[in-house]
Amino acid sequence: MNLPNYVKIVEVGPRDGLQNEKVMVPTDVKVALINQLTDAGFVNIEAASFVSPKWVPQMADGADVMARIQRRPGTLYSVLTPNMKGFEGAVAAGADEVVIFGAASEAFSQRNINCSIAESIARFAPVAAAAKEKGIRLRGSISCALGCPYQGEVPVSAVVDVVRRMRELGCDEIDIADTIGVGTPGKVQDVMRAASAEFAMDRLSGHFHDTYGQALSNILASLEVGISIFHASVAGLGGCPYAKGATGNVATEDVLYMLHGLGIHTGIDLEAVVHTGDYISQAIGRANSSRVGRALLTKWAAASEAAPACA
Ligand code: HMG
Ligand code: MG
Repeated sequence: MNLPNYVKIVEVGPRDGLQNEKVMVPTDVKVALINQLTDAGFVNIEAASFVSPKWVPQMADGADVMARIQRRPGTLYSVLTPNMKGFEGAVAAGADEVVIFGAASEAFSQRNINCSIAESIARFAPVAAAAKEKGIRLRGSISCALGCPYQGEVPVSAVVDVVRRMRELGCDEIDIADTIGVGTPGKVQDVMRAASAEFAMDRLSGHFHDTYGQALSNILASLEVGISIFHASVAGLGGCPYAKGATGNVATEDVLYMLHGLGIHTGIDLEAVVHTGDYISQAIGRANSSRVGRALLTKWAAASEAAPACA
């Protein structure tokens, strides 16, 4: 297999993970989570959303979160911005990257951002232009690229069409998102190859939710065709408020374990991420969904119990 030497992991737990929690997560906890992730070595953390608080109440404190985190030079702190109102909030908060988020499925676009795909692109256009003018990095995210909870199958051509429109808006990076985790490796490779006809492969990313347990296989399949940017969520936090039954993103710990095992560098300290996964799971009273996280925590607990007491 011809695999890359380095993979960029975008940690999306503080946004994609926490946006779906029913109980309001205190701002202090969000800030502590992002600071720990920063210390673990991530170069890109999706920290917040500047969306309507009526639609996603959990993200209402985005400005506070951004004001209170300790930033590390070299780490980009990204935020979601569906429209100019969100963009203005993002600029005021000093976001390094703004994310416009559309969909390859009309039905999902309506449920998630209350407009058609064409309307969404028109809404993103001023955001994209303003980002370019201010020199802020622009990322585009395409939901339901491997299937939709409302319409089912999503044709590859629909994904490619949105990739092209996002390229035309000037996106620096584009995410191929499996919102409900239904994709399988062959289909993922087809979509990635087709998307790369419109946008550089090394600036496409895989954003895989793990609902059907396919995410690690889909990452490996994506690596094989040349993708080298992946999104992941510490402790496998998350779901999607507009995709019932969708589980979190693939757990960051599991992705790191696989990549490091393949000899691929990430610059991220797996042990630190496992401790962070334990911290956030306990802080919000949720089971840790990372297999690697659970295995290592169990192993470390057993080792410390077995260690002889100091004389
Ligand atoms: P709308 O209701 O059509 O918009 O929502 P509107 O312009 O009519 O505004 C309605 C109200 O929201 C107004 O307030 C606006 O001021 C306010 P009111 O006058 O009623 O008091 N508002 C805002 N407030 C704060 N920040 C803003 C903002 N915009 C409007 N930016 C809108 C349209 C897009 C705003 C809404 O649908 C929305 O916020 N949706 C967000 C949905 C969302 O965040 N979904 C989750 C993230 S996407 C995701 O998770 C998928 C991803 O992970 C990839 C994958 O896995 O698929 C990225
Ligand atoms: Mg997502």
